[in-house]
Amino acid sequence: MRPQLFMTGLLLAVPAVAKTTKSPDLIPFALNPLPLGSITPNGWLRTELEASAAGLGGHLYDFYRFVARSSWIGGDSEYSVLNEALPYWVNAIVPLSYTINDQRLKNDVHRVVDTILDRIQPDGWIGPETLDSGKRMIWARTLVFLGWTNLVEANSTYEKPIVDAMHRFNGLMNSMLRNNGTGMIYHDGDPLSENDYLWFRTRVEEMFISLQWLLDFYPRNQSELIKENIDLIHHFAYKWEGWYTEQSYIKTDLYNLPDEVTDEQWPFLHGVTVAEGLKYAAALRRSTHNDSLLTTAKNGADWTFKYHGSSSGTILADERIDGLNAYYGSELCTHVETIYSLAYNYFAIGDPSYADRAELTAFNALPAAISGDWWSHQYMTEPNQPFSKNLSASPFYDVDTQGQTFGLEPNYPCCTVNHPQGYPKFTMYSFLRKGENGLVHALLSPGHVETEVAGGQVTVDCETDYPFDNRLSYTIHSDNKFDFYLRVPNWASGTSVESSTGSQASEVDPETQLRRIEIPAGKSTLTYTVDMTIQTEARANNTISIYHGPLLYAFYIPPLVSSGPPKFYTNQSAFPPGSYPSQAYDFTLLNSTEWNVAIDPSTLVYHPGSGKLPSPTWEDGKLPMYISVKACLIDWPLFKDVVPGNPVLGEDRKCLGDAFEVKLRPYGSSKLHMADLPVVDGLGG
Ligand SMILES: *[C@@H]1O[C@H](CO)[C@@H](O)[C@H](O)[C@H]1NC(C)=O
Ligand SMILES: *[C@@H]1O[C@H](CO)[C@@H](O)[C@H](O)[C@H]1NC(C)=O
Ligand SMILES: *[C@@H]1O[C@H](CO)[C@@H](O)[C@H](O)[C@H]1NC(C)=O
Ligand SMILES: *[C@@H]1O[C@H](CO)[C@@H](O)[C@H](O)[C@H]1NC(C)=O
Ligand SMILES: *[C@@H]1O[C@H](CO)[C@@H](O)[C@H](O)[C@H]1NC(C)=O
Ligand SMILES: *[C@@H]1O[C@H](CO)[C@@H](O)[C@H](O)[C@H]1NC(C)=O
Ligand SMILES: *[C@@H]1O[C@H](CO)[C@@H](O)[C@H](O)[C@H]1NC(C)=O
Ligand SMILES: *[C@@H]1O[C@H](CO)[C@@H](O)[C@H](O)[C@H]1NC(C)=O
Repeated sequence: MRPQLFMTGLLLAVPAVAKTTKSPDLIPFALNPLPLGSITPNGWLRTELEASAAGLGGHLYDFYRFVARSSWIGGDSEYSVLNEALPYWVNAIVPLSYTINDQRLKNDVHRVVDTILDRIQPDGWIGPETLDSGKRMIWARTLVFLGWTNLVEANSTYEKPIVDAMHRFNGLMNSMLRNNGTGMIYHDGDPLSENDYLWFRTRVEEMFISLQWLLDFYPRNQSELIKENIDLIHHFAYKWEGWYTEQSYIKTDLYNLPDEVTDEQWPFLHGVTVAEGLKYAAALRRSTHNDSLLTTAKNGADWTFKYHGSSSGTILADERIDGLNAYYGSELCTHVETIYSLAYNYFAIGDPSYADRAELTAFNALPAAISGDWWSHQYMTEPNQPFSKNLSASPFYDVDTQGQTFGLEPNYPCCTVNHPQGYPKFTMYSFLRKGENGLVHALLSPGHVETEVAGGQVTVDCETDYPFDNRLSYTIHSDNKFDFYLRVPNWASGTSVESSTGSQASEVDPETQLRRIEIPAGKSTLTYTVDMTIQTEARANNTISIYHGPLLYAFYIPPLVSSGPPKFYTNQSAFPPGSYPSQAYDFTLLNSTEWNVAIDPSTLVYHPGSGKLPSPTWEDGKLPMYISVKACLIDWPLFKDVVPGNPVLGEDRKCLGDAFEVKLRPYGSSKLHMADLPVVDGLGG
C-alpha cells in the first residue's frame, strides 16, 4: 500500500517515470539524469532560482529586444546572423520555469515553443531562415533542441509535436549534410562567412546530445538516419580529439605566441567554445564507442583548468583562452557552459572529478558575476578585480572597456540571454539514478526529488545550507528498499553518515567517491556531514587562493556604488525611458579601500558567523561566514595602467607598512575581490 504522503505527490503534474538510456547503438550513461521537473530546489538554491525568475532572466521575453522581437517569433531583432538569442532563451527558460514550476514563465515557454512549431517551414526547416536566403546554418537549432528535449520530459503534451519536428528536421539535415555539408561548412558564393559557420563546427556536441536523445527514447525506425547524421556532423566538425593531445595542445600563455600560431588554432581557443567542448568527447564516445575519448575528455578538463583555469572554477579567456594571470577574466557564458559540460561529463562517464569541478564553478564563478537580485551581470569577471567600472582603455584580447561592469548588456549580449541556464541545469543534475535500484546525490545542494527507483516511488528531501555549512539532512520516503549514494567531495577531510534506521553507510568507493547506504521501505531520515577545512592552492607569481570546502574566499572590497540607466552595448547610449523594467541598472563599483594586499597564510582563521543565510544569498558582502588573515600593503603595479597586474616577486615584495587584519569572504558574494593573493611571511607576530 502506498503511504498517504504520496497522494499529494500524485496530483502534481510531474512525470514520475525515470528514463534509462536504452539505444543499443549508444554507450549508456554511467548515471541517468531524471526528467526535468523531478527535482525541485530547496533553501538557498530555491532563493536563487526564484530571484533569477524574478530578475533579468525571467523578464527577457517581456522587453529584451533580442528575445521579445526575435526573428524566430516574427520580429527582426538579432545581434548576429547566428539568430541564436531566442534559442539561448529556450535552452535556459525551459529548465528554469519547470524546475521552480513558475506558471508565468511556463506560459512564456509554451507561447514561444508553440510559435516556433507553428512557423516550421514546408521542407521541415525549424527557424526563421528561408531556403532562398542561403543563410541556413544548423547551429542555433542545437540550443532549441536542448530546450525542447527537456520540455518533452517535463510535459508530455509536447512529446508528439516536438519529436515529429525533430524527426522531420533530421531528414532535411541529412540531405543538407550529404550535399557536401550544407548548413555546416562554407561554400563559394555563400552570403555567410567561414567564421559564421565556425560556431557549429566547434560545438557539435550540442547537437550530438539531442540526436542521441532521439536514439535513446524516440528512434521511430530512423536510427540509421540519425546515426548517419552524427557521423556526418563529426566528419565536418573541428575535432577536439585531435586538439587535446600532447602534440597539439598549447600549454603556455597564448600572449607569448605569435599571432600566426594562435590564429591558426582559433577554433579551439574561444573561451565559451572551450567550455562547451569539455563535453564533446563524452558525447561523441557514446556513438563511436572509442574509449580513447575518455582520455580526450580528461585531458580536456585537466589541461584547460591547469593552464587556463581560474581559482573560481571557470576558464580564463578574454574571449580567447590565455594563461593564468589574474587580470585575465572569464565570460559569464563560460561559467554556465562549464557547469553544464562538467555535469554532463559526470553523468555520462561517472568520474567524480567532473562533479567536484561543477560544484566549484556553480558556487564561485557564477554567483560572482551576477548581482544579488539577478538584474545585472558582468560579461567578464577577473579573479583580481578591485573595481568594476568603464576602464580608461581595454587591456583585453577582445573585451570592451565596459566588459567587467554589472549591467543589462555590458558587452556582447550573449551572456544576457545565456546566463539563466546555470543554476537550473545544476539543479537538474543534482540527483542522478544509478542502475534500477540506486539514487545518487551528485551535486550536493538543497533539493527535493520525486522519482521511481527500485520499481517504486521515492521522495528525497534534502535540507541544507551546503556549501556554507557541512551538514545535509535528508528525509526519505520509499515504496521499496533502495540504495542511496552520497558523493564525497575530493576536498573533504572526512565524512560521516547517520541514519534513523541504523543502517551503516559503506566506506568511500575509491573510484566513484560514493558512499552507499541501504534505505528501507517507508520513512527514514539521514544526516550526512562533510568535514571542511581551510585549504590553499598555489597560483601564478607566488600567490595563493583560499578555500573552505568548495567555497573560494577572496579579499573583500566594499564598493562605492553608483548607477544609471542601462546602455546599449554597441554605442553606450542609454536605453530610452520606459523601454526596460525599472529594476534594470548599469553599475559602477569603485574600491573604497586599497586592494594591494599580501597575506600571511599561517594566520588564516575560519569564522562561521551566525544567523540564517541572507536572501538573496549572494548579495554583496552579506554572507555571515568569513576568513580572517593578517595582511600588509605591498607595491603592486597596474597592467597597462588599468587593472591590477602581476604582483612583484622576491626581494621587491615587502610590506609598505604595518600588518593589519583583513576579511576574506565567499567569492560569489564579493563582487569586488582579490582572489589570487600574494604571500608574505612573518605577519603572525
Ligand atoms: C503542458 O503544456 C500544455 C500546452 O502548452 C499546457 O496547457 C499545460 O498546462 C502544460 N502542463 C504543465 C504541467 O505545465
Ligand atoms: C565541398 O565544399 C568544399 C568547401 O566549400 C569545397 O572545397 C569542395 O570542393 C566541395 N566538394 C564537392 C565535392 O563539391
Ligand atoms: C518500424 O518498422 C517495423 C517493421 O520494419 C514496423 O512494423 C513498425 O510499424 C515501424 N514503426 C514505426 C514507429 O514506424
Ligand atoms: C579512437 O580514437 C583515437 C583518437 O582520436 C584514434 O586515434 C583511433 O583511431 C580511434 N580508434 C578507432 C577504432 O576508431
Ligand atoms: C568608456 O571608456 C571608453 C574608453 O576610455 C570611452 O571611449 C567611452 O566613452 C566610455 N564610455 C562611457 C559610457 O563613459
Ligand atoms: C606571473 O605569472 C604569469 C602566469 O603564469 C607569468 O606569465 C608571468 O611571467 C609571471 N610573472 C613573473 C614576473 O614571473
Ligand atoms: C544606439 O544603439 C541603439 C540600438 O542599436 C539604437 O537604437 C540607438 O539609436 C543608438 N543611439 C545612438 C545615439 O546612436
Ligand atoms: C582604489 O584603487 C586605486 C587604483 O589602484 C587607488 O589609487 C585608490 O587609492 C584606491 N581607493 C581607495 C579609496 O583606497
